[in-house]
This record gives sequence, C-alpha cells and structure tokens, in this order.
Amino acid sequence: MGEDEVQKLIVRGGNRLQGRVKISGAKNAALAILPAVLLASEKVLLNNVPDIIDVRTMLRIVEDMGMTIRRRGRNSLEFHPSGLRGFSPPFSLVQKIRASSYLMGSLLGRFGKAMVPVPGGCDLGPRPIDQHLKGFTALGAACRIEHGVIRLAADKLTGAHIYLDVVSVGATVNLMLGAVLAEGRTVLENVAKEPEVVDLANMLNAMGAVVKGAGTDVIKIDGVRALGGAEHAIIPDRIEAGTFMLGAAATGGKVTVGEVIPKHLEAVTAKLREMGVAVEVEPEQITVSRTGPLLPSDLKTFPYPGFPTDLQPLGMVLLTAAPGTSIVTENVFDNRFRHVDELEKMGAQIKVEGRAAVIDGGVPLSGAPVSATDLRAGAALLVAGLIARGETVLGEVDHIYRGYENIENKLTALGAQIKRQNRGGSSGLTGDPG
Ligand code: EPZ
Repeated sequence: MGEDEVQKLIVRGGNRLQGRVKISGAKNAALAILPAVLLASEKVLLNNVPDIIDVRTMLRIVEDMGMTIRRRGRNSLEFHPSGLRGFSPPFSLVQKIRASSYLMGSLLGRFGKAMVPVPGGCDLGPRPIDQHLKGFTALGAACRIEHGVIRLAADKLTGAHIYLDVVSVGATVNLMLGAVLAEGRTVLENVAKEPEVVDLANMLNAMGAVVKGAGTDVIKIDGVRALGGAEHAIIPDRIEAGTFMLGAAATGGKVTVGEVIPKHLEAVTAKLREMGVAVEVEPEQITVSRTGPLLPSDLKTFPYPGFPTDLQPLGMVLLTAAPGTSIVTENVFDNRFRHVDELEKMGAQIKVEGRAAVIDGGVPLSGAPVSATDLRAGAALLVAGLIARGETVLGEVDHIYRGYENIENKLTALGAQIKRQNRGGSSGLTGDPG
C-alpha cells in the first residue's frame, strides 16, 4: 500500500524503541536549496535529498518551469537549467507547500520578475511574509498583491542594508536568494542562524555566489553576474533526528541516530540530559537511552540555537511521561498548541495559557482516535501512540509524509508496532512507501 493510499495509522503502544536509525537529508535545507537551483546556469547535482512529499512537490514545480531533472538514485538528483522559462510557477502546486514562497527570491533574482500566490497559512497560526516583501522592496523590486497573487518586478536589483524586524528563517532564505545576483553589497541583519540557512549559503557559494556570515545574525552578500553549477550534499535533518531522540526517551528505549551533526542538536541533548536521559554524543552519531524515571522540565522554544519549535510537540509528549509539573513555552509561533487537544483525548493533563502549556505529567496515556494537525504534531502523536496503553488510530497522516522519509519503516525497524489502514478501511503492515 503506497503512502498516497494510507488514510490512518494504527499504533499499538508498549514497545521500547531499540536500535539504529538512518537520518535523511534535511527537509528545510532541501526546500531552500531546490529554489536556488533555478539560479544556476549550469548543471547542479544534489545528494542526500529526502524523498518526502514536500520535496516531490517542489521538484514538480521546477520541472514544470522547464528544469530537466535526472534521478541518479533515490536521494540523488541532477538538474539541467537550460530549458528554464517563465517566472510564474504552477499555482496549483505552489499552494501545496509554504516553502514555495522561496520561489519569489529565486525567480526575482533570475528573471527580475516573480508571480507567486500568497502562501497559505497553516496550523501554526498566521504565516505573514511582510519581512520577505520589505526586503525585496529594499532591493529595488516593485511589489503588488492582487487577487491573492504576489507580483514582484525589478528592472535591476541593487544591494541594500536590510534589518529584519523578526528573526525569520523564510525571510532570511528568500532574501539571500534575491540578493546573490543583485548589483553590489547586501547586508542582512537580525537574520536566522539555523543550520539550513548555512547549508543554503554553502550551496550558493559552491555555485559562485559570495555569501558571508551565514550562521551569525548578519549575512553579507556581494552580488555576482551569474551563478554556475555545483555538486552539494544536503545536511542531515536535525528535526528528524530530534524526533527519534525524543521518541527513544519517551518509550524508555535505546536508539542511535546517524549520521547527524551533533552541534545542530545541542539544545535537544541538553534538555534530554536535564530530564534524566542518558545521551552519548560521538562525532557523527548520538545515542539516547533511558531506563529510570523522567524528570519534569521547563521547555522554551527559540530560534536556533535555542530549542527548536519544530520539536516542541515531541517535547510535550515526552513531558507527559515525566511525573510532576512541566511548562512548555512556544515563543516562535502564535498558535502551535493544536496537538494539545489531541493529546488530551489520550488522557494527557495539559492546560494552555497563552504561550505556555502547563503539563501535569506521569499519568500514562491511553490509546485513542486522534488526528495530525500538522507535520510535527503528527509525529508527536505517533510517539504518543507508542507510549500509550492500547491502540491509537492516527488520521490525517499525509501531514507526516510531507516531512518524514519512510518514518513508519524506520519506527517499526526499531520495534514499534504500526499498521496502515487504507482509505477503504483494510489494513496491512507497513511496507515500502513506494
Ligand atoms: C521555517 O518556517 C520552517 N519551514 C518551519 O518548519 C520552522 O518551524 C520555522 O522556520 C521556524 O524555525 C521551512 O523551513 C520550510 P519563520 P518559516 O519565518 O520560515 C514570523 C516544519 O515543520 N514572521 O522563521 O515560515 C512568523 O509568523 C516547519 O518543518 C513574520 O512575522 O518560519 C513566526 O512567528 C514548520 N513575518 C516567526 O516569524 C515574516 O515575514 C518565525 O517564522 C516572516 C515570519
């Protein structure tokens, strides 16, 4: 049964996760780097590209715009940009993924024009792009929003000094893409320091761009006339790795995640140790094991290098298993607690007060029918099902396949009991997602 036929996942709780799991390429690096390929004037080879729905959608978008793509392996792709045409990507596909907003920067940089539908909000609250548009305007683009479409145009892009009012991964990525071919120097201040931003900068520099300071809060870009090709391997997905680390701790198991870049996971490692979990860090892998009781903790999300907002739902599931009172504070998004309602259906004792969720932990969860409200909430509910008593039926699983490659097989290989139920209601053991 392929992923597209799966409607629900049936999870039986009680098994510890044990073993080693291979971490895929980072979704949020791939989704920033694929639009950058539109800026290349020669062949580009990308390795370690995660095979997930959002990447497949982005590939269909660039292919529809004339890019020739040759698959050299499940996770290796070769791009030939000679046939690229037009500055208006297929709206039906663009509206499927938020990261398509990055097409604004790359199309503006490449063609001096871009027409992209306003990206949909999603379950994390409003997803404004005011900082993106403020930056493009500073670079000299005229910007109009009509009938839900953002129209950008610039006879020439000129470097500018741009100060972001909000630390935004998306705005940082988008403005890097728009500035690399602008004339002169662009200074971006108060930018995001996420590893995915650094990975994009490394890829752009491999193509001949001049980007300095990625990973700090000031990025300086000296525009060049054209970008060549490159070969680049996407960094490991720190959020996928963190998902398995927190899941291992929640189930009381022992899991090694690799290959990873441990520095990208320092906030997660520190929090797990604070909760009484053993974390062994080696140069390219991390082993998480827990035998004793978990300790309650206060978990606050912040932009990198703080605890990642994308692992907040997973951290919350772990804290429901720690006897005592814990507090989760979500500082990045305005509405990233929709998984709380679902966890309460499983018996979790959680009270949301504004940006804080107060958890009365130590009460075992019980299996229940629940739904994924977004990608990371879906992963969190999968882990909740692994530690709950009885059976959990998880709906809206498409959210999970958007950002996790082969997650069921990776979990069942670690000892999880997960079955697929297709849209017709019949179920079968997880097979290759096809
Ligand atoms: C990226 O989203 C990631 N998505 C998100 O991962 C991640 O949660 C987020 O960064 C924070 O790390 C991708 O990389 C594809 P932001 P993005 O702009 O760029 C506000 C996942 O599950 N803001 O850093 O949309 C915004 O409302 C996804 O993999 C403005 O006010 O996030 C939010 O409160 C979920 N104006 C805060 O900044 C703007 O112009 C951070 O958002 C832009 C953002």
